[in-house]
Amino acid sequence: MTKPTGWFQIGWANDFPVGSVSARKFFGDELVVFRTESGELKALEAYCQHMGAHLGFGGTVCGELIRCPFHLWDWDGEGQNACIPYQDRPNRAVRMRTWQLLERNDMVYLWHDKQGAPPSWEPPEIFEALGPDVAAAEYHAPHPNGQIRFGALQLSPYVVLDNVADPAHFMAVHGSASIPTVVSAEADGHLFSVKLGFGKRWLSNPEDTSTLDALDIMQVGVGLSYTALGSLTNPFVVIVLATTPIDDETSEMFQTVWLQKTQGDEVPGRLADRMWQATNQLPGDIVIWEHQRYVERAAWAANEVKGFNALRRWAANFYEPAAG
Ligand code: FES
Ligand SMILES: [Fe+2]
Repeated sequence: MTKPTGWFQIGWANDFPVGSVSARKFFGDELVVFRTESGELKALEAYCQHMGAHLGFGGTVCGELIRCPFHLWDWDGEGQNACIPYQDRPNRAVRMRTWQLLERNDMVYLWHDKQGAPPSWEPPEIFEALGPDVAAAEYHAPHPNGQIRFGALQLSPYVVLDNVADPAHFMAVHGSASIPTVVSAEADGHLFSVKLGFGKRWLSNPEDTSTLDALDIMQVGVGLSYTALGSLTNPFVVIVLATTPIDDETSEMFQTVWLQKTQGDEVPGRLADRMWQATNQLPGDIVIWEHQRYVERAAWAANEVKGFNALRRWAANFYEPAAG
């Protein structure tokens, strides 16, 4: 598979305070991410066009520019050379490669296109995307315990993606009493939405589902998965799981958790307990994903074929090999 196109999380806004310079590696490329004095977050290729110093190690922010530690050349967020301190004019002939970033819901997303094209869509606002009941609720900020960084894992986004069409693993991996019901599954452009219902009452085709527990999943491209668990009678938990390739073998994974505010949250230990409830399941998936061998032609059970095929057909759009 080639490298996927789309928006991918590279961290949270608070990872990158004003004046900070960070070295990162994504999609096989070394990047430098810096926040200018006016608060703009910028990403450039890491290596200075002068003589190749890595700006992420000793580079400094000067106003809206980043200064190379080796000979103090300044670069702007568009990758242009702005100043050579020992020459009367900058070098306009060379340019650093730039990466487009987007900050939304305190997340930092990076656009990756295998052919270098600019973004053709944006990730939706998380709470609105998950429906009016989720959007209307109030949430605790995720920072710090709901911002979980798994570091470099031996997995690819397409392994994680299969989760969206996999209700059968809930009994084995997550201890569900029964396999959840797939209430709906729908591809729409860069989004793939699935609703899973938990408990037997879903099977009886209830009319008012707003008080029944459901897991709403919105897959946003192959790198971002928004989920909401809960109902009007059971506080919502909103989670974004992000898988961002570092190189062909490894990905960085981020989990962000918003807990709906409820009465009693101030009781010592209550919030920590709710956070544990919300986050203790993912490590069970990760240990499987990290050691799994991805099977292109899986031996699915009859009732799995349709769901997995629809998901993988949709996902192939983000992996199309380069034209020509
Ligand atoms: S290598 Fe960056 S200024 Fe010389
Ligand atoms: Fe899972």
